[in-house]
Amino acid sequence: MIHFDKNILVTGGAGFIGSHLVRLLVNKYPNYNIVNLDKLTYAGNLDNLKDVEQADNYTFVKADICNEKELESIFDQFKIDNVIHLAAESHVDRSISNPLEFVTTNVIGTVNLLNVAKSKWDLTSDNIFYHVSTDEVYGSLGETGLFTETTSYDPRSPYSASKASSDHFVRAYHETYGLKIKISNCSNNYGSHQFPEKLIPLIINNIVENNPLPIYGKGDNIRDWLHVIDHAEAIDLIFHEGKIGETFNIGGHNEKQNIELVHLLIKLVDQKLGREEGASLGLITYVKDRAGHDQRYAIDAEKLQNILGWTPKYTVEKGIEETVNWFLSNKDWIDNIISGDYLNYYKGQYAKR
Ligand code: NAD
Ligand code: TYD
Repeated sequence: MIHFDKNILVTGGAGFIGSHLVRLLVNKYPNYNIVNLDKLTYAGNLDNLKDVEQADNYTFVKADICNEKELESIFDQFKIDNVIHLAAESHVDRSISNPLEFVTTNVIGTVNLLNVAKSKWDLTSDNIFYHVSTDEVYGSLGETGLFTETTSYDPRSPYSASKASSDHFVRAYHETYGLKIKISNCSNNYGSHQFPEKLIPLIINNIVENNPLPIYGKGDNIRDWLHVIDHAEAIDLIFHEGKIGETFNIGGHNEKQNIELVHLLIKLVDQKLGREEGASLGLITYVKDRAGHDQRYAIDAEKLQNILGWTPKYTVEKGIEETVNWFLSNKDWIDNIISGDYLNYYKGQYAKR
């Protein structure tokens, strides 16, 4: 049997961010065994991991973080000594339709995983439980200001309430039981392999298909966009060099109004498909706003920059263009997703909006 320096359990590794992180870790650290645990919900997709599935230091296990027995046997079988926890229900609109599912996975699933780590590990060892979270726990900003690590929690959607709760539990296990934890709270991610329920892939796909581009409310909400690879690299850095018990915000100072971003996507996709400039502008359709729609998110990532020297590699212009290129040249990936379940979801969300 090969000896590995670390046996890292990555949960949610078949999802959007998780698959980028797994790829980075498997390729960069042949001395680590990366065990990807994922339930393969609608958002999990093993097609995201084709390029690493044969690697000697990679194993996929289909399991549910809510199932304690399954987790215990995975910890035993793979001698898990570190966790990077990404598994979650991740979409705000779905959380509005079904909050309990978010409590189950994001809160109960996280506490279950904490319990198994606590019971299986010698808590004086260097084993780390790294929890991946969102800036949405801080609530909504007005026209000015940025979220820092000391901003008070003020979650306003069922999704952000469930993530806030999971963050609190992770900190509580550090304070109460001495579990060695790290947390990061990141702004909105974009990039290849993102499920087309989120704004950027949904809009790209609808432009390609000549379908309406649904803009919630006035389209003036602001999100702070970060390329998924910059996020994965920040997680790698914090996992290795961040101080135990600390929180780091991750963001790249890329604030954009939704409508501004949609205009950029139209320009790029039309250009690349050889359509006339502005051909798809007429697809823009203002629809009923999301309930409790947070106005603005923006991250202050100075702590991560000053203490660990992290800087994002992607400008939003370069990152969005690469993302558009990826979706246009991976039509099969998206066509495999846009089948029965997705169509039902889409109809439910948008038909009567
Ligand atoms: P995603 O929805 O693409 O992937 C989530 C993954 O978790 C899927 O593969 C799914 O199958 C798996 N999963 C869900 N429930 C599970 C369960 N009970 N047991 C095991 N696996 C389960 O999400 P994402 O966008 O990749 O986000 C990953 C993490 O990063 C989440 O914790 C999310 O809150 C956080 N985050 C996301 C963003 C973003 O912009 N997408 C920003 C900051 C933080
Ligand atoms: P989303 O990608 O769902 O991420 P989050 O809600 O976590 O920020 O949405 C990003 C922004 O885009 C948000 O302000 C809601 C808006 N939006 C639309 O206007 N239309 C859409 O169809 C979707 C999915 C989102």
